[in-house]
Amino acid sequence: MTTLMLNRNDVYTGNLVLVNAKHPLVSEKNIDLISVDENHFNILMERGAATVLSNILDDINCTDKIVPVSGYRSKEEQEQIYRDSLKENGTEFTKKYVAFPQCSEHQTGYAIDLGLKKDVIDFIRPDFPYDGICDKFRKIAPTYGFIERYQRGKEIITGIAHEPWHFRFVGYPHSEIMMEKGLSLEEYIEDIKQYPYDGEHLKIIREKGTIEIFHAPVLSYKQITLNMPDHCIYQVSGNNVDGIIITLWRQEE
Ligand code: DAL
Ligand code: ZN
Repeated sequence: MTTLMLNRNDVYTGNLVLVNAKHPLVSEKNIDLISVDENHFNILMERGAATVLSNILDDINCTDKIVPVSGYRSKEEQEQIYRDSLKENGTEFTKKYVAFPQCSEHQTGYAIDLGLKKDVIDFIRPDFPYDGICDKFRKIAPTYGFIERYQRGKEIITGIAHEPWHFRFVGYPHSEIMMEKGLSLEEYIEDIKQYPYDGEHLKIIREKGTIEIFHAPVLSYKQITLNMPDHCIYQVSGNNVDGIIITLWRQEE
């Protein structure tokens, strides 16, 4: 058995952090950023997310058809984008399409805006249609760990307008579960709370074994301890709200 010791700081990092107007970013430090590809040196993402993104683009053979438009943004960059948009597009548009600084998941390194390659690409609202290669990407993305983050019909929940171009790395199998259940990240984070560490876990059966997912609240500045079974791979992510989500892969005997 392995004992995991976690504290409140762990709530604020990891690929499942929920960052929105109600849950601003707390931790900005130690994000391991890399370029998304050699042709776009200035566009950065968290290392794992960037690697998975480039795997998808390679696998569906679309590196010359889909282009990264905006990845990681510092607080200062998000402030600049927000200010510029207010000036150019006005308040109503800006509130719909640009998250308030510290409330943008672009600041986590796990978000990427993608555009269909063309001569002129809109920086805030790139074209990423529901057909052709873009839709192929959109449909396959959840099998790799990415979700279309701001879907039509979820505007009230996410606080952001429909954004067909904005993808978020949440990790597999979370992406696939969210797609199957039709949940936004806000709803998924709530949903997982019904599967506590010391109760029944969410169990996902896959070819290579069973994946268990559960939530552990970290409500105070006290440390919590969780016991992980031996011979399992596990991943820990904070939810940026109130706790930790553990993903545990049990190998087939
Ligand atoms: N366009 C998204 C909401 C952002 O600015 O983070
Ligand atoms: Zn975006």
